[in-house]
Amino acid sequence: MLINHCFAFTALLLLTCQCSAQAPPPAAPAPAPNASQEYLAAHNQARAEVGVGPLRWSEALAKSASLTARLQRDKQNCSFANLSNSRYGGNQLWAGGFAVTPRVAVETWVAEKKFYNYADNSCAADRRCGVYTQVVWKKTTDVGCAQAACSHDRSTLTICFYDPPGNVVGEKPY
Ligand SMILES: *[C@@H]1O[C@H](CO)[C@@H](O)[C@H](O)[C@H]1NC(C)=O
Ligand SMILES: *[C@@H]1O[C@H](CO)[C@@H](O)[C@H](O)[C@H]1NC(C)=O
Ligand SMILES: *[C@@H]1O[C@H](CO)[C@@H](O)[C@H](O)[C@H]1NC(C)=O
Repeated sequence: MLINHCFAFTALLLLTCQCSAQAPPPAAPAPAPNASQEYLAAHNQARAEVGVGPLRWSEALAKSASLTARLQRDKQNCSFANLSNSRYGGNQLWAGGFAVTPRVAVETWVAEKKFYNYADNSCAADRRCGVYTQVVWKKTTDVGCAQAACSHDRSTLTICFYDPPGNVVGEKPY
């Protein structure tokens, strides 16, 4: 029930989700020293490919993403957060049974690009493109991401928050 607006990559045991976000609770650990660079570089590569300027890293957004991911870990077995009340854009990735690096997470979102038609700002039938269009949304300037791991089933939940949020209805991403 937490995965509407989400697209399932069943072959890879990956699930992505794009929503607007929710207010976060309790404290979080620092990510790997260069994980932030890897999240950022992967986003900015996808943006450069379509002529959109780079995002900058936001520690505040990363902290919110970390708090939200840890709450899902502690209370919801790493399932997707309900981000419908957040003032940020949010992309999520659930992965079962294997480690997901920051680059792999972002590349999984960017893989939706092949379903997106820029000319009429549409998405292929039965596909969702909102995760990709958030990555390349021109008016979004800041990103922050985090991951939490659930040891009981070796799953992970990766969340990125975006500010200002993308996927404004009726607007093209760039
Ligand atoms: C998410 O939260 C919103 C607002 O609180 C609620 O209306 C909606 O039903 C929730 N969605 C799910 C899938 O739980
Ligand atoms: C960190 O840097 C090392 C060495 O440059 C690189 O191999 C690795 O992929 C980077 N990212 C993470 C998250 O460790
Ligand atoms: C999380 O998973 C464990 C083990 O499968 C289960 O016992 C528990 O009820 C689950 N918790 C929630 C909130 O779904």
